[in-house]
Amino acid sequence: MPRMIDLLKHIEWVGDAATGHLRLLDQTLLPGEVAYLDCRDVEAVWRAIKRLSVRGAPAIGIAAAYGCVIGAQHGEFIKQADYLATSRPTAVNLFWAIDRMKLLGTDDPAQLLDEAKTIHAEDEAMCRAIGEHGLPLMPEGGGVLTHCNAGALATGGIGTATAPMYLAKERGVELAVFADETRPLLQGARLTAWELGRASVDVTLICDDMAATVMRQGKVNAVITGADRIAANGDAANKIGTYNLAVLAKHHGLPFYVAAPSSTFDLSLSTGDDIPIEQRAADEIISGFGPATAPVDVKTFNPAFDVTPAELITALVTERGVIEPVTTDRVAAVIGAAQASSPKPQASK
Ligand code: MRU
Repeated sequence: MPRMIDLLKHIEWVGDAATGHLRLLDQTLLPGEVAYLDCRDVEAVWRAIKRLSVRGAPAIGIAAAYGCVIGAQHGEFIKQADYLATSRPTAVNLFWAIDRMKLLGTDDPAQLLDEAKTIHAEDEAMCRAIGEHGLPLMPEGGGVLTHCNAGALATGGIGTATAPMYLAKERGVELAVFADETRPLLQGARLTAWELGRASVDVTLICDDMAATVMRQGKVNAVITGADRIAANGDAANKIGTYNLAVLAKHHGLPFYVAAPSSTFDLSLSTGDDIPIEQRAADEIISGFGPATAPVDVKTFNPAFDVTPAELITALVTERGVIEPVTTDRVAAVIGAAQASSPKPQASK
């Protein structure tokens, strides 16, 4: 089938294993400017993750895997891998990817680069498989709401929550997408609206506080988001405000889907209560994009993520199939086998 989706290369290894480097699209500048960061040392990769130049759980893992290659180029693979693991605490893909690199048991940049490229390519394939499983769940001819950016910019492929949207576009399935703005850093407005618009997906931007209204007015018939970490019982951490949407969806009788690859599951945590939630700086709320929009000395509370309880999630959409209902047993049946043959996240505990 012809691929109609023209994605930007937002994570790319440039050059060979011994002397090459990581090129990242700087997502903090979107949608105004398309500019790239050339990361030649691990500190640059760490900073790019921390300041959200590269963000979204799978993309963070892929960037960190390439960061490990840079660490190895400098003769400090393990030390620098452990440093990269301190960049952000919530997305388990970061620890999963770093552990996978370590499990190779080598500090040879060439072998590490092969593994990083494999992680990248596997993520691309997982996104497409998520799209295939998710497309039949989409309300054809209706509206679907998403939050933050679980799109191409957050992954190595066509995104997780956005994968069914891209496939719908590719196959002529009518679907109206509503994108939440996503305070405080506006990933929905700056990134999701931008990338879906580039692909000519029918997208309408709303402020976060309009979600209940579009549901009540019948403009939205389902919600789909991504995840940063999913516990063994299906509780899912994702961008702050996701939990609000799950509660609203329940009130309005709408299905609430979470789309994520198996690399986002952390079966070592029995529930979402144990997921570490990143707290971010006050200035993101007070003056995130320039002039202060609040008193500069106001007290703030700025968790980057929240946890949606499994009971509010209609189904988890993974590359291995749809998990419905969302129970510990069903998660174990679909994801447990996949993880038994791959590394367990260690660095996050
Ligand atoms: O803080 P961010 O922008 O990294 O948060 C991203 C999200 O919450 C995404 O929904 C999640 O990582 C899934 S990306 C496929």
